[in-house]
Amino acid sequence: MRKVQFTETVMRDANQSLMATRLPYADFEEILPTMDKAGYYSVECWGGATFDSCLRYLGEDPWERLRNIRKNMPNTRLQMLLRGQNLLGYKHYHDDVVEKFVELSIKNGIDIIRIFDALNDFRNLETALMATKKYATPRTIASGCISYTQSPVHTVDKYVEMCDTLVKMGFDTLCLKDMAGTMSPYEAEHLIKGIKDKVGDVPVILHTHCTTGMAYMTLTKAIESGVDVIDTATSCFSNGTSQAATETMFYALQQYGIETDLDENIINKVNDFFKPVKQKYVDSGMINPKSMATDSQALVYKVPGGMLSNMIANLKDMNAMDKFDAALLEIPAVRKDLGYPPLVTPLSQMVGNQAVTNVLVGERYKNISNEVKNYFKGEYGVAPAPVDKALEEKILGVGGKPIDCRIEDSKRTGEDFAKAKEALGDLCESEEDIMSYICFPAQAEKFLKDRKAKAEKIVKYTIEEA
Ligand code: CO
Repeated sequence: MRKVQFTETVMRDANQSLMATRLPYADFEEILPTMDKAGYYSVECWGGATFDSCLRYLGEDPWERLRNIRKNMPNTRLQMLLRGQNLLGYKHYHDDVVEKFVELSIKNGIDIIRIFDALNDFRNLETALMATKKYATPRTIASGCISYTQSPVHTVDKYVEMCDTLVKMGFDTLCLKDMAGTMSPYEAEHLIKGIKDKVGDVPVILHTHCTTGMAYMTLTKAIESGVDVIDTATSCFSNGTSQAATETMFYALQQYGIETDLDENIINKVNDFFKPVKQKYVDSGMINPKSMATDSQALVYKVPGGMLSNMIANLKDMNAMDKFDAALLEIPAVRKDLGYPPLVTPLSQMVGNQAVTNVLVGERYKNISNEVKNYFKGEYGVAPAPVDKALEEKILGVGGKPIDCRIEDSKRTGEDFAKAKEALGDLCESEEDIMSYICFPAQAEKFLKDRKAKAEKIVKYTIEEA
């Protein structure tokens, strides 16, 4: 019997998409032993914005959160999302930092590392992949992930070729990541069939969002076309900018006669548990009703919803909403000049801001942002298609070429660990603390200072009571 498995995203992507990743560990600890029996392929519970959010907003040690989830879910594969050489931030970290981060992630409980790069420049995945293989346990899975986007150069053939490359690099599974939720059922069918024809037995995973309302149709077509794993969220944390609902897809698959490994009773219990949790954040305003609704604008304008709302906010700030239509028209032009980068962070902001600037100044590229300049210098990686030659010449000079290696290779200075350890002094208790500090220095330092203060208070009370 054919089988399709589920990755439950409530702890990471649903949490990140619906409530800006502000779900504290204490809110879901109690349900973890139950979730451990649900029969998921995996739970996505770490990485993405969870690390930063733990330190910055929740006063939690992200490593401790991971160890606690591991302890309460010994049987389920724990999954994280990793932005290749950027780890969980936006800058390119040194190879030894990337390697150590992966080593510690596995050591603290991660089984599946889903690795992607915003530009699909696979050189930026190599170090994380190598480290995953080096520190792998028998449960470890390295998942190669593609940032899905639509453009004249992003054809089915191109995606199939990318998947082939990822398999040859040594990835165990493949994931298509449609962060804007713009993949149509038709596209899913052609992509999944094309990829399956090429890579055979390698499991293929589809990650999409309900933002534009297409996810259920797209997932259905993907299932009919041979996808192996789908990402879903327990139903009260599904839809809107989040994933499709776990239970809904489960019921649909049952009628297809497709096996899922899910326990119906347990997945319903999981949803019952999360219902009041969600209601608490709807009541407090942390969950914005807008994020729970369907917004088809991304399909109309061919830009992700988040990018559009960013642009509107910028134009309003500058009292220039009358330039909205012109700015919208400018986006495809800028994107073409940049060689059709996927419109994900940080590229969506880069393209959006430059389009707005071009329109406000009234002349294309009279003002060029530093981000766009660095992009042309090759600091983000290789553009998916050739960039505009005249613009390249304007930025790099006549005959100027982008760097032909990773930014990490051209700017290596080293000594991150020694410097971080020294800076932290007696705040540092572990390698994990050092890593938190390297990734998010200000947030980690504040968290570690608070932790020390709390510990000293506890010691003081204990002495007084004794
Ligand atoms: Co996502």
